[in-house]
Amino acid sequence: MNKLHVAWRSRLNTLAALLGVLGCIGSMSVTLASNDLHEHGRYVFYAAGCISCHTRDQLMAGGRTVVTPFGTFYPPNATPQREYGIGGWSEEDFVRALREGLSPQGEHYYPAFPYTSYTRMTQQDMQALYAYLMTLPESSRAIQPHNLQWPFSLRPMMAYWKARHFSPGEFVADPEKSTQWNRGAYLVEALGHCGECHTPRDNMGASLRGYYMAGTCVGPEGVRVPNITPDRETGIGDWTYEQLLTYLGTGRRPDGVFAGSVMAEVLGTSSMRLTRDDLHSLGVYLQALPPVDNDLDTRCAPFDDSFIYE
Ligand code: HEC
Ligand code: HEC
Repeated sequence: MNKLHVAWRSRLNTLAALLGVLGCIGSMSVTLASNDLHEHGRYVFYAAGCISCHTRDQLMAGGRTVVTPFGTFYPPNATPQREYGIGGWSEEDFVRALREGLSPQGEHYYPAFPYTSYTRMTQQDMQALYAYLMTLPESSRAIQPHNLQWPFSLRPMMAYWKARHFSPGEFVADPEKSTQWNRGAYLVEALGHCGECHTPRDNMGASLRGYYMAGTCVGPEGVRVPNITPDRETGIGDWTYEQLLTYLGTGRRPDGVFAGSVMAEVLGTSSMRLTRDDLHSLGVYLQALPPVDNDLDTRCAPFDDSFIYE
């Protein structure tokens, strides 16, 4: 073996070692990146409250009902199982379901699946959410057909409903407002879907924009949902910012009573898991809502027809 050859061999060895190290760093940053994606997806999953409707005994495996004035919905299995879940879905299929309310076969979803809110999610949040869902344990719970009143039982009807009441598209920040307000708006409108319960609907199930967050007598499961606009008389305008944050972070109302019914679940599976910064943004946004005078004590009284909104 001549000298030159040896020199080359040692150089090659150094190169190989170097490549090995680089390769190692390379794969380390890949796992770091995919951990970040997983954590990001998990955060979106909780902030968006996907658990509540789809989970009884196993994450996203279905088995619960969503009772509405239009009938009973059975939110399907959305675990990564191929036959009964969404295991065969591509990322594009998933994004289309949330953004446009369309199944991979092009069928229209009912807005009981709140894609009317989720459509505002950023592309990044949807992609991270997809990646996270695909890591959940599989379930082979079969999908159960919904039990809806005619004509709502006709799924193609939803095409007309969507044409009138649904505007798909990502959240657009308001440049006039602070970063915190915009983050709060995003958390409320795109992820937390707070308005799905707190905003009353007309008899076609469309949200009444003039009563945004002003409460309703007939929320999910028929419960009354309070007015959370900062109206002093009929909303939560007399709560201080600190009291509002305490409620969102612990469920404790200023009068010492803890949140009940479906809100206790929203808090436990969603709001209480938000970062301190995000809770602040929620508070800032809620306190800046236009106050709406909507007295539910009067509206929800039996035999009073004022619950019918003009
Ligand atoms: C308020 C209840 C509710 C919440 C919250 C909810 N879903 Fe659903 N979801 C439903 C209902 C009801 C359907 C069935 C819709 C239909 O049949 O038209 C559904 C359908 C779906 C489907 C379609 C499954 C299929 O087989 O076609 C997916 C995927 C899905 N949801 C994922 C999610 C994700 C992800 C979240 C959180 C971002 C979420 N859901 C939050 C009620 C809900
Ligand atoms: C599934 C329906 C539902 C969703 C989604 C929901 N809420 Fe609620 N919320 C309720 C109900 C019902 C109550 C009344 C709870 C009770 O009786 O203690 C309530 C109570 C509240 C209250 C206390 C008002 C009061 O006068 O006691 C606040 C504040 C609130 N919600 C904020 C939010 C925010 C912010 C979101 C979104 C992150 C949200 N809610 C999402 C149903 C919902």
